[in-house]
Amino acid sequence: MSTSDIQPKKPQRILSGMRPTGRLHLGHYKGVLVNWLKLQDDHQCFFFAADWHALTTDYANPGIVQQTIWDMLIDWLAVGIDPEKCVIFIQSEVPQHAELHLLFSFITPLPWLERVPTYKDQIEQLREKDLGTYGFLGYPLLQSADILMYRADGVPVGEDQVPHVELTREVARRFNHLYRKPDQPLFPEPESLLMPASKLPGLDGRKMSKSYNNTIELGETWKVTEQKVKTMPTDPARVRREDPGTPEKCAVWDFHKLYSTEDERSEVHAGCKSAGIGCLDCKKVLLKHLEEELQPIRQRRAELATHMDDVRDIVKKGNERARIEAERTMDKVRRTLQMGYRV
Ligand code: TRP
Ligand code: SF4
Repeated sequence: MSTSDIQPKKPQRILSGMRPTGRLHLGHYKGVLVNWLKLQDDHQCFFFAADWHALTTDYANPGIVQQTIWDMLIDWLAVGIDPEKCVIFIQSEVPQHAELHLLFSFITPLPWLERVPTYKDQIEQLREKDLGTYGFLGYPLLQSADILMYRADGVPVGEDQVPHVELTREVARRFNHLYRKPDQPLFPEPESLLMPASKLPGLDGRKMSKSYNNTIELGETWKVTEQKVKTMPTDPARVRREDPGTPEKCAVWDFHKLYSTEDERSEVHAGCKSAGIGCLDCKKVLLKHLEEELQPIRQRRAELATHMDDVRDIVKKGNERARIEAERTMDKVRRTLQMGYRV
């Protein structure tokens, strides 16, 4: 296995993708986007909306992508993913990904795909969808094509995606071995840059996820966030204001650990245990920090949403830059496969 720290030492080519699944929430921000933000300053980054990937599971509802993709891209820009620093694009706008996926499919043994852990897991978890399809089995290979197309050195991913990068390394090795001289590999073997799991729980203490209905969306209004935080469940022992509580049994405390200063934390902790403060006081401290973090993002978001032409333009330019890079790789791939007979 080859994983390394999220921040590699030398400047590198970085690539990562996200499926358009709807508006992003604080979990996406703290778990993924903050890492992308760190990487974009020192590395050459390619970030893309994986719309074809969304269709591997949502093929029966293709309209979902259209609704969600712009929301997601606006969220990226609103948090500060910067088109001056990185290439932002849409997967299906670079059809070379499909071509490379096809060519890889010829050299990839079926067991390599069947043993990818997400394959059986997802089929189990998404029982309501028929995932016994050719495309769903091949989906990690499409991801390999995404990565190798840009000859990325590093791929920031969560733990569940590490096996996909591992597969990508094997595919790169097999391609190089089959078609290239040992000292002239075409594809470098990418490394996973493992993003630590976000420490931020959802509003109910479980993992923040749209399907649990426990999220704070980046794009919701402050009023909604405030209401959600005020009604967050707390330690059930604190029925009345006078009942002491245990912060460790409360999701609000997990938020404090991430957002509040040391002084605030010790005050809140002691106040909870002695019933010196009420839950609403405790939440107010948190709300102040959330407001500081979220309001600038929301302002930029609202601004971007009223300038959709500019947003489309940014992505259009990103698509063009990605296509140039992709074509450069495909040209080498086609030559390597001796397809010079093409007219
Ligand atoms: N499979 C990834 C996910 O579900 C998204 C993705 C597609 C991706 N292609 C990628 C991530 C390439 C990193 C690199 O989260
Ligand atoms: Fe949770 Fe704060 Fe209430 Fe304690 S005081 S139960 S930490 S909200």
